[in-house]
Amino acid sequence: MRRSRRLLITGGSGFIGANFVHHWHRQYPDDLIVVLDALTYAGNRANLADLDTEPTFRFVPGNICDADLITQLFETEQIDTAVHFAAESHVDRSILGPSVFVQTNVVGTFTLLEAFRQHWENQDKPEAFRFLHVSTDEVFGSLRPNQPAFSETTPYAPNSPYSASKAGSDHLVRAYFHTYGLPTLITNCSNNYGPYQFPEKLIPLMCVNTLLGKPLPVYGDGQNIRDWLHVEDHCRAIAIVLEQASPGETYNIGGDNQVKNIDIVEQLCDLMDTLVEQLPVQPARNLITFVTDRPGHDRRYAMNIEKIQRHFGWSPQYDFATGLKQTVEWYLSHQTWWQPLLSPQYQTFYKALYGL
Ligand code: NAD
Ligand code: TYD
Repeated sequence: MRRSRRLLITGGSGFIGANFVHHWHRQYPDDLIVVLDALTYAGNRANLADLDTEPTFRFVPGNICDADLITQLFETEQIDTAVHFAAESHVDRSILGPSVFVQTNVVGTFTLLEAFRQHWENQDKPEAFRFLHVSTDEVFGSLRPNQPAFSETTPYAPNSPYSASKAGSDHLVRAYFHTYGLPTLITNCSNNYGPYQFPEKLIPLMCVNTLLGKPLPVYGDGQNIRDWLHVEDHCRAIAIVLEQASPGETYNIGGDNQVKNIDIVEQLCDLMDTLVEQLPVQPARNLITFVTDRPGHDRRYAMNIEKIQRHFGWSPQYDFATGLKQTVEWYLSHQTWWQPLLSPQYQTFYKALYGL
């Protein structure tokens, strides 16, 4: 019989974290879930509001750099499992202001690891404890057109302040396993898409701008390639790794789905034309605007997912066309979710980035 868990989920009010909290609660409603989230611009309390009445759910506002708070939470809630999503996650913001990326992603992860280690040691190192660190494919750098996809043994070569800070956090997690035997796991995943994604990332930004009749900024020549995975497939993979993988392991997760940016933007425009009766600008493709490229823009990411397929039989279940249509429909039917996010601070950031 499966033993129940008591989870601390950091960053559970953000995009992937909120999807994961819902996923886990649906699967294991009797497990305790404590969400710790600083509610930065990317965190949204509304994402988990439907769980507030659940007896096995608690939300704690707070920062992963706050060692006292985390230590107290681990002890009072008798946490045995930490799933670590909290991060600054947007490459463009890391170029404009890298400092908070080092603070949250490196120092915050260190603070969490150290508190979890002390808690684990105080309990005589229980075998069932787990610390799962959620990371990205961007730590591996950029691929040329014919290079093979990143595997778990590809050397790290991060190129942006975001990916460098995530690489730093991965190294710390790895070191805590090798040095202290802390039962850690690392997952490195490709670009996610789906419900609850903040409209600064490619897919939701294009949906929102199309509805507002604003330009659709495509960086450089639009030929950069990303490997897209539906967030629900990602959550399923994290859950499987958490339940089944041996401590110290790392797994690559991806969609086996390499798409050029311009192809995605055009697909989104066509979906919008079909799904929305009256757009401010139609056809939506007329809004596509090529803008100055992102500095140091990685050309191509692709994930080799053989290891997780071989070990656990996990594979992506969403095909991209279906997932993209479902995602567009979600943004269409959740305008009250994204409209409040377009705050004056968002507009300032947007202007600094695109000049649009
Ligand atoms: P997000 O930006 O949507 O959410 C981040 C969450 O962390 C927010 O709720 C925010 O309030 C919280 N947070 C930020 N700083 C914090 C701090 N100091 N203390 C406590 N909470 C804090 O990010 P996301 O897209 O959901 O990504 C989640 C994780 O997955 C990140 O670690 C990211 O690196 C990784 N990842 C993301 C993708 C992707 O495509 N989005 C792909 C691979 C890996
Ligand atoms: P993004 O969603 O920011 O994810 P990441 O940079 O982590 O891969 O961007 C995905 C791709 O889309 C990336 O190549 C940059 C590009 N992009 C644009 O062309 N225009 C935009 O407005 C944004 C946000 C991204």
